[in-house]
Amino acid sequence: MRAVVFSRYGDESVLELARLPEPAPADGEILVEVKAAGVNPVDWKHREGAVRNDRPFPLGLGWDVAGVVRATVPGGPAVGEPVYGMLPLPYGGAYQELAVLPASAVAPKPRRLTFAQAAAVPLAALTAWQALEAAGAGAGVRVLVHAGAGGVGHFAVQFARHLGAHVTATASAHNLDFLRRLGVDEPVDRATADPSAQGPFDIVLDTVGGPVQHASWRLLRPGGTLITLPEPLDEAHRLPGVTARRVVVAPDGGALRTIAALLDSGAVQVEVQSVLSLEQAATAHRISREGRVRGKLVLAL
Ligand SMILES: NC(=O)c1ccc[n+]([C@@H]2O[C@H](COP(=O)([O-])OP(=O)(O)OC[C@H]3O[C@@H](n4cnc5c(N)ncnc54)[C@H](OP(=O)(O)O)[C@@H]3O)[C@@H](O)[C@H]2O)c1
Repeated sequence: MRAVVFSRYGDESVLELARLPEPAPADGEILVEVKAAGVNPVDWKHREGAVRNDRPFPLGLGWDVAGVVRATVPGGPAVGEPVYGMLPLPYGGAYQELAVLPASAVAPKPRRLTFAQAAAVPLAALTAWQALEAAGAGAGVRVLVHAGAGGVGHFAVQFARHLGAHVTATASAHNLDFLRRLGVDEPVDRATADPSAQGPFDIVLDTVGGPVQHASWRLLRPGGTLITLPEPLDEAHRLPGVTARRVVVAPDGGALRTIAALLDSGAVQVEVQSVLSLEQAATAHRISREGRVRGKLVLAL
C-alpha cells in the first residue's frame, strides 16, 4: 500500500511516499480502506520529534481517518461500512491506504458529509468535546474559546453553543464573520481587542499556549476553569481559586456517534479549508505549521 512515512525527525523534507506491506489488525482492531486523512498540528509535531513513540523508523503519520471497513471483529462495524475515527495516540498511521484502529474508536461516517469532511472531524472535535466536558460546560455558562476559527476552536464554539453556553471567541479580523456564522455571541479580534471586556468567564479554553495560557488565568471568575491543550500548565502563572488542567484527547467511538448526529442534523458544521492529495502531505504540514488554518486541512487518497 502507499503510505507517507518518515525515517528521521526533521522538516517537511523528511516525508516520503513509500510502499509498505498491508498492516495487520491486532485483537479488537479493524482494517479501514482510507478515503481521506485529517491533518492536525500533532502530525508535524510528531514529524519534528516533539511527540515520540517507541516504534522504529519508518514511522507512519496522522490520527484521523474516514474510509470503508475492509476487515472487522465481532461486534464491530460491518465490512463495507463507511466509518470515521481517530487512531490512539501516540502511534500515527492515517496517511496511508489502509489503517488499523480499535473498533471502539470508530463510528458510522456522518451521512451528509463527504469522506474528506468526515476525516476533518475526529481528533479536533473529540478534543473540543472532551475539553468542554472536563470543564463542565452547560447552559448559561460563559465560555471563552481562544483561536475559535481553528480546528479545535471551530468545533468548541459550536458545541458550547449547542450546550446553551454564552460563547466568546478570539480570531483574526478576517475570521470574525466566520465566528458569527458558527453562532459565537462575542467574536473578539485578537490583534486589537482584549477578551477581558466580555469576562469574567466560567471557562477558558486555551488552544494556543504560551502568553495566551498565561493571560487566561486573569480572565476567569473565582472558581472558574482553565483547560489548556497545546502544552502542560505553566505553574508559575497559577492563580488561586481557579481549577486548571490539561486535557489530552482520547479516541471515543461513542462520542463520535453523538457528534455525527449533530453534523447530520446541521446543528454543527465542519469547515475544511483545503483538500490536498497524499503526495501533498509536506505542503499540508507547512500550511498547518503556519498556524492560520480556518477549520481543517485534509488529505484525500
Ligand atoms: N491536548 C490535546 O489532546 C490536543 C488536541 C488537539 C490539539 N491540540 C493542540 O492545540 C493547538 C490547537 O490545535 P488546532 O488543531 O485547533 O490548531 P489549528 O487549527 O492549526 O489552529 C489554527 C488557528 O489558530 C489561530 N491562532 C494562531 N496563533 C494564534 C495566537 N497567537 N492567538 C490566538 N489564535 C491563534 C489562528 O486563528 P486566526 O487565523 O484567526 O488568527 C488559526 O485559525 C495545537 O497546538 C495542537 O497541537 C492539543
